[in-house]
Amino acid sequence: MAAVHVMDHPLIQHKISYIRREEVGSKEFRQIVSEIGSLMCYEATRELKLQDVQIKTPICDMTAKELAGKKLAVIPILRAGLGMVEGVLDMIPAAKVGHIGLYRDPETLKPVEYYCKLPSDCDEREVFIVDPMLATGGSLIAAVELLKEKGVKHMRAMCIIAAPEGVKAFTEECPDVELYIGALDEKLNDHGCIVPGLGDAGDRIFGTK
Ligand code: PRP
Repeated sequence: MAAVHVMDHPLIQHKISYIRREEVGSKEFRQIVSEIGSLMCYEATRELKLQDVQIKTPICDMTAKELAGKKLAVIPILRAGLGMVEGVLDMIPAAKVGHIGLYRDPETLKPVEYYCKLPSDCDEREVFIVDPMLATGGSLIAAVELLKEKGVKHMRAMCIIAAPEGVKAFTEECPDVELYIGALDEKLNDHGCIVPGLGDAGDRIFGTK
């Protein structure tokens, strides 16, 4: 079973509560989703391995620490995942960015793929999939399956809010992918919306609808 990390950092909790409010407009919503992306990235990279490196400071030689091993990639699920990308890149400027386009069929709630463009060496990278919402889990599961088909072996997923139904489906289908969420909400409603949730993150980020 995949590990699920609920990020209880006060800044993350505060910012999520802020953007849940219906009166928050697109400009603020977009800004704060990006900030949450930064903070979640900061927390989710806690386990990355370090290695020793010899450097010279203006004072003397020293053995310092730097990130070891694999390079990173951030992969947003379009559209709403785009809102978290800048925030992640603020923390990891050298990360490459891939894009997976999925939308949920409003009738079946099943994900439909419409775009996929990944860094050419994606299979050698440590991948962070980002999407603000984990509802039924269908989109995130489809993204993981797609990345596995492309040879990606190391991935983690970061979602700002999640429904218990989505967490259950994801951990059952993708037991090898660590899941980081900012808040675990109560349930899905009959339309597949997270309750209490924050509405449709894509529409709120881009001002559509
Ligand atoms: C939303 C959200 C996730 C997905 C979650 O995207 O951003 O990608 O739904 O639902 P699921 O867990 O049930 O698959 P949506 O399909 O509304 O597309 P958009 O981001 O383009 O608005």
